[in-house]
This record gives sequence, C-alpha cells and structure tokens, in this order.
Amino acid sequence: MVAGMIQSHPRISKAVIPAAGLGTRFLPATKATPKEMLPVVDKPAIQYVVEEAAAAGLDDVLMVTGRNKRPLEDHFDRNYELESALNRKGDAARLAKVQESSDLATMHYVRQGDPKGLGHAVLCAAPHVGDEPFAVLLGDDLIDPRDPLLQRMIEVQEQHGGSVVALMEVAPEQIHLYGSAAVETTTDSDVVRVSGLVEKPDPADAPSNYAIIGRYVLDPAVFGILRKTEPGRGGEIQLTDALQQLAADEKIGGPVHGVVFKGRRYDTGDRGDYLRAIVRLACEREDLGPDFRTWLRRYVTEEMQQP
Ligand code: UTP
Repeated sequence: MVAGMIQSHPRISKAVIPAAGLGTRFLPATKATPKEMLPVVDKPAIQYVVEEAAAAGLDDVLMVTGRNKRPLEDHFDRNYELESALNRKGDAARLAKVQESSDLATMHYVRQGDPKGLGHAVLCAAPHVGDEPFAVLLGDDLIDPRDPLLQRMIEVQEQHGGSVVALMEVAPEQIHLYGSAAVETTTDSDVVRVSGLVEKPDPADAPSNYAIIGRYVLDPAVFGILRKTEPGRGGEIQLTDALQQLAADEKIGGPVHGVVFKGRRYDTGDRGDYLRAIVRLACEREDLGPDFRTWLRRYVTEEMQQP
C-alpha cells in the first residue's frame, strides 16, 4: 500500500447478534423464554439491540438463536392478527408500536444447536457473513441509545482495517467478570491499540482494567481462527481467545483496536443490572417518567428509611 493512499473498505452492513445462551443467571424466567426477550420497560431487551444496529446503518441482521427461538423470530415478524385488531379499533399509536420491530432491518436467523460458547455462536454466522467485516452485538448487552458506540467503532475499523472491540474501564475487583485487554495509547484519546486479551482473568493477572463489552467489529479472518479454537475458560469456545490470536499476529487479519466507551451500558443478563436499566430508562421516559419518578422519590425517602 502506498503511504497516504486511501484504503477502500467494503461498507459494513451486516450485524450478528448472538442470542443462544442459556441465560442461567436469570432462571427460572429463562426456562422457556430467551433472556433477550425479557422486557426493559415495555420493549424486549433485544429490540434495543436491533435498533442500535439499524441506527448504525447495519440493515442486515443475523440472529444466532438456540432453543426457545420462536419468541425472537415472532417479535421481529409481522403479526397480522394483532395489527388488524388494532386497525379495527383505530388504535394507530399501538399499531405503530407493533409494526416498529418488524420494520427495523432485514432479519435472518441461524440456529446454534449446542451453546458451546460465544466464539462458536459467532462461527455459526460464517456462511451468512462471507468475506467482509461485520459487527457483533451481544443480545443481552444494552448500550444507551443516547451514547452511540457502534458508529464510532465502524469509523475506527474503516480507518485502520482489522478488528475493533469495545472497552470500558471497570473497578479492579470487577475485571474477573470480563475479558481484559492489554492496550497502548494512540493519537485518538478514545482509541487504543490492543496487544493482547485474556478472558475472565484473576485480578492479579489482568493486563489492565479495560473490560471488553458486548460490541465488536470483526475482520472475517476471525472465522478461520474460531474453526481451530479449542474450548477455553468454562469449557466454552471463547471469542476472546480468537481475538487474542488476531491481536498477537497482525498478519492474520489486521490490527485490533479498542474504542473506550464511557457511556451508559447495562448487562440485562444480570439481575441487578437489569433492574437498574429498567428504573433508569423508566425515569427518563417522557410518558412514564414523571409519575414513576414521583413514586420512586417517595419510596426511597419514606419506605427505604424504615429499619
Ligand atoms: P453469556 O455468557 O452472557 O450468556 O453470553 P449465557 O451463557 O446465556 O449467560 P448465563 O451466564 O447462563 O446467564 C453472552 C452472549 O452470548 C450469547 C448469549 O446469548 C449472550 O447474548 N451466547 C453465549 C450464545 O449465543 N451462544 C453461546 O453458546 C453462549
């Protein structure tokens, strides 16, 4: 490549959303329902994620589903019976809400027969994605729509090529819950170069307090690595292990960069974070917020003071 020459990258248009995990932290709610379908205020968590992909210009969405996949597919499909009932009642507002989720993107589905880990779920997307960079959005990770992250990650991928992960600084005692990245600064304050990655390290072994969160823009070279990746931590095929190989050898699929995210993010697969997401988003809603905030203030000042 001649220095200064503008690289031409294919425009990233495909998003992969793994949603085939067992959701064991949320049992028994997730016994017969995918955790991604649990409502956050009045929308299933997964709808926020598909909306985020669509807002970043990714209009081709492949969802990796497992058992209990029906509610996910139905949610993003038309529901003519409900639509005609609302039509007959002249309830245009609710009709628009029903139609919203089926108009967001072109949806595709692939089944991950056995939930062998996030890396394996991403590998299930290989035939659909082909040989182009693509985004991965974890179905249980909710990024506040007012704090856009994915657009910035796509920009960084278009600038540098290779792959881009999303990083968030966490307290040292929290890092064992995430993948952790060894990083070097770049000239952009929100972008780092990733030189290594470790999945769920002991705090003493963590290369930094930068935790990998559920957004990725990946070079398709990751598929070749995933095909050869053995099960790692927890007996699962880990995406972090494959990314570690990309970071260790730039010749395979280009560099790995990280975008440091400082916005609001909720892990809706974790009960505490799920509750915080609902309270926060409900408080901020124009329709529900005023009444809900009044109730919450009273609840906190009166009821929470009781011994
Ligand atoms: P998690 O580890 O958070 O999901 O995976 P889990 O296994 O469902 O969670 P718990 O610990 O049992 O509650 C992160 C994302 O990867 C998907 C999950 O659906 C989630 O969106 N995933 C995970 C898959 O699609 N397939 C897998 O084999 C594992």
